[in-house]
Amino acid sequence: MSEQIADVQQAALQAIEHAQTLNELNEVKVQYLGKKGEIQALMSQMRALPKEEKPAFGQMVNDCKETVTEVLEKKQQDLEVQATAAKLEQEKIDVTLPGDTIRIGTTHPLILIQNEIEDLFLGMGYKVAEGPELEQDHYNFELANIPADHPARDMQDTFYIDPTTLLRTHTTAMQMRELEKAHGQTPIKLICPGKVYRRDDDDATHSHQFMQCEGLVVGEHVTLTDLKGTLEFMANKMFGEGRKIRFRPSYFPFTEPSVEVDVSCPFCNGKGCSVCKGSGWIEILGAGMVHPHVLEMNGFDPEKCSGFAFGVGLERVAMLKYGINDIRNFYINDERFLNTFDRFD
Ligand code: DAH
Repeated sequence: MSEQIADVQQAALQAIEHAQTLNELNEVKVQYLGKKGEIQALMSQMRALPKEEKPAFGQMVNDCKETVTEVLEKKQQDLEVQATAAKLEQEKIDVTLPGDTIRIGTTHPLILIQNEIEDLFLGMGYKVAEGPELEQDHYNFELANIPADHPARDMQDTFYIDPTTLLRTHTTAMQMRELEKAHGQTPIKLICPGKVYRRDDDDATHSHQFMQCEGLVVGEHVTLTDLKGTLEFMANKMFGEGRKIRFRPSYFPFTEPSVEVDVSCPFCNGKGCSVCKGSGWIEILGAGMVHPHVLEMNGFDPEKCSGFAFGVGLERVAMLKYGINDIRNFYINDERFLNTFDRFD
């Protein structure tokens, strides 16, 4: 009898040893320790034994069960440790591998200038207006006092889409939209930055696409002095304290009088250098008092109100401010150029 128990025990221990996986081990467990397993089968033989043999037999089967259970549990632990180790090995991440570099762009220099101008004028209570780049002749020319056949149309070589639709040649088109929208109500204080287009041949100082920012103030008693003070403030903020500005008479159909505005050269402080070509002054924008006829056409009474306007080229400001000598740099998207503006952000 005891031999039979010993055989079962040995077979069980061998099976445990051979089990390679937790599943296999579980099969062994069922086979030997399960309710219908071999050790339980030994137990049920006890009933047939004479009474005096029962305790010893029972003891032996129990010992066998205990031994098998103990060895099986130990094996189970080992297999679990192995399985975890294998899983970890399989899912291992090499944290020393170099990561993917995320390339973050920098703010475009023209947007830097636009942001700077917007901040400056928002601080003075102006609003920032927008308008379409695909514009109607009506706003780009007619309302700006540039009727068909006006020689000023030749000054701005225009990309026409059809006889009445064009790519706006100046942000003055937005000025006209805003004037019309106001229905004669003052005050108006706004700037309109945006892209404009002209049929120019691209070179170091010309680009068929460029950016302007228009300024417009309309109200009672708005004077040329207000314009001068505003532009002087802007010049000091954009090019550093101590800048002076000067007005030179000029002509624009939508302003009367019209002026070209120069800023004292920020590079030589007005003494004369290669940037200002020895003059001490650099031309930065066009401006003037809104032409009475423009006010009238847009529903304002020029007897009761007046206004000033200006239009500044953003490339020109950026070129002066950052020392860029070719306008095409703004449009060819060379990262070596664009990345240098990190530090201005
Ligand atoms: N529209 C003009 C241009 O593109 C610039 C300009 C000049 C705008 C005088 C104005 C202004 O508002 O008053 O050359």
